[in-house]
Amino acid sequence: MPKSSTEQQSNIARDIETLRAEILRHEALYYVHDAPEITDVEYDALMRRLCELEDAHPELRTSDSPTQRVGGQPSEGFAEVTHPRPMLSLDNSYNIEDLRAFDERCRKLSDGRAVSYVAELKIDGLSLSLHYENATLVRGLTRGDGRRGEDVTANVRTIQTIPLRLKNDKETDALHDIEVRGEAYLSRKAFERLNLEREEKDEAKFANPRNAAAGSVRQLDAKVVRSRRLAFFAYDVLANRKPFATHHAALEFLEAAGFQVNPHRAVCANIDEVIAFCNAMEAERDRLDYEIDGIVVKVDSTALQEEFGTTAKAPRWAIAYKYPARQATTRVNSIVVQVGRTGALTPVANLEPVLLAGTIVSRATLHNEDEIRRLDVRTGDYVNIEKSGEIIPKVLSVVTSRRTGAEVEFIPPAHCPVCGGDISRPEGEAVSRCVAADCAAQLKARLLHFASRRAMRIEGLGEALAEQMTTTKLVCDVSDLYKLTLADVIALERKAEKSATNLLTQIEASKTRELPQLVFALGVRHVGERTAGILARAFGSLTRLETATVGQLDDVPEIGSVVAQSVHDWFHDAGNQALCQRLREAGVQTEYRTSSTTPTSATFAGKQFVLTGKLSTLTRDEARALIEQNGGRVASSVSKKTDYVVAGEDAGSKLDKANELGVTVIDEATLKGELIH
Ligand code: IVH
Repeated sequence: MPKSSTEQQSNIARDIETLRAEILRHEALYYVHDAPEITDVEYDALMRRLCELEDAHPELRTSDSPTQRVGGQPSEGFAEVTHPRPMLSLDNSYNIEDLRAFDERCRKLSDGRAVSYVAELKIDGLSLSLHYENATLVRGLTRGDGRRGEDVTANVRTIQTIPLRLKNDKETDALHDIEVRGEAYLSRKAFERLNLEREEKDEAKFANPRNAAAGSVRQLDAKVVRSRRLAFFAYDVLANRKPFATHHAALEFLEAAGFQVNPHRAVCANIDEVIAFCNAMEAERDRLDYEIDGIVVKVDSTALQEEFGTTAKAPRWAIAYKYPARQATTRVNSIVVQVGRTGALTPVANLEPVLLAGTIVSRATLHNEDEIRRLDVRTGDYVNIEKSGEIIPKVLSVVTSRRTGAEVEFIPPAHCPVCGGDISRPEGEAVSRCVAADCAAQLKARLLHFASRRAMRIEGLGEALAEQMTTTKLVCDVSDLYKLTLADVIALERKAEKSATNLLTQIEASKTRELPQLVFALGVRHVGERTAGILARAFGSLTRLETATVGQLDDVPEIGSVVAQSVHDWFHDAGNQALCQRLREAGVQTEYRTSSTTPTSATFAGKQFVLTGKLSTLTRDEARALIEQNGGRVASSVSKKTDYVVAGEDAGSKLDKANELGVTVIDEATLKGELIH
């Protein structure tokens, strides 16, 4: 029997309701919790479907539908402020045809007048609105839901690339009261550093630079924000009227006013030039030090922009061209548990191989048992995975709608899957560990870490060799490497004598690595590369580090109590003490050699520096390292021999002395600037 039209109508109403609830849930996950379960593409598809249904049935459209507003909810903790001009979003396009259709719409709207565009990078961070009054930064707001954002002024002030005062030139004088919009982001380098520090402190790592930037801007403690090294690219300036005839002139103004404006941009006479820019930048994408997710194309003429106007959601004069997703959906073939060098058990999903951002991906990390439970991922599930930068892909969410019922739940192992040893999971920790001292998997991972590039740099010691060395028990701890003979290696590798000799040469050469590398190579829990450097510099030798008390360790700037305890415990373990002794006996260099810091440039060759006051982006140790790596020296007091005094905030008597003696005083930016030019 055909369905009555009222029946059909109520089915559609139900579909619309379900879609709305689903979209709202994903918006909350994305905007409020920073933990999306679906990809942007999937979200856009849900939104498109809802728009289509509402367009076909306008009587079912309600004012609270997600299609009627711009974005998500601002999170709690900061004062909410209404944006004087709403912060709209952008329409997305995913292919060249979409771009051509956008161009056609623009040319139609312009009634045959030529339309030129500005193409710029779509930085993957979070947008900020900065208010300047009398050329002074007075307020910084997040986008929030587009109408109301959060007042994050204190945090915004910590971002080095945001001028607190607009630079004074003729044009700026006329534009005292402006709103500048742009994207706050974390460079890949700053992101990696942040995650390294978090790993050392056993804190959860950020999934990608965008989440890290969003999390950082919403930090309640501005000091923490400063340490995160956020940066900012400005992309728009607003005043009561459009102050510039073209968008590219607005960008030039922003640059002159002291903002960082992304240099990768192009004024394009037509859409073909835009497309060429999109393709060229896609090839460049991985070489940039920050993440982008596409290109933003904007009509250059501001008069045309005003004529075209906006929809409720987005301007008609701009479009985002999204690069192919770094996310994909694939099947989990199995879940296995890997054992790391500290015994940490990490569940890993073996995936049906899938092409993702140019590489075939067949594994993704599941982090720990809690994460598996949170995701409820099972063998046989289809999952959304994401790859960002060089990081190993991770599972974002399960596509529950594709479940058949045959999926198998993951049961955490009761014993180490490699050695069968006991597992422990201390109260409050997310990670379970194998506690067996002689676990072959731990030894292999320790060996690989010891030999890795940033540790003892033993080239040629890879997976296969480490596996053979440990399973044959030829190597029972890392010091056994230094006992290997040519015959041992040839027998293992079943390879030519030449490659065996090369390996032994590499092992021999590793004896002369610096102390920071050795300390890092030992694989002490919580001691990453940076901490290893701090410890090596502070104690000067392996022996002094071995005998350091928790109090002495704790007293070292930047070493917290967790790290101090961990280092102390490691060096007080009898097995580890014997290992250090064996390394020494093998001839491994265990003293810190200050003079041997190889300069990476000679910019400061022979120059003497004195540091004073509080530096804003560098710690004292980092500033010292920077100077030494570039051939300079740091002294503790100012004298006639001093070439430069680097003065930070609240510099005191040393600055007075420098002025008295006529020593050149520079600030931190100049110090860093010297290295760039
Ligand atoms: S223009 C009217 N330009 O993309 C919209 N946005 O998807 C003004 N974004 O919320 C945005 N780089 O956070 C513009 N060069 C750029 C951008 C950019 C990144 C972000 C921005 C915006 C989102 C829209």
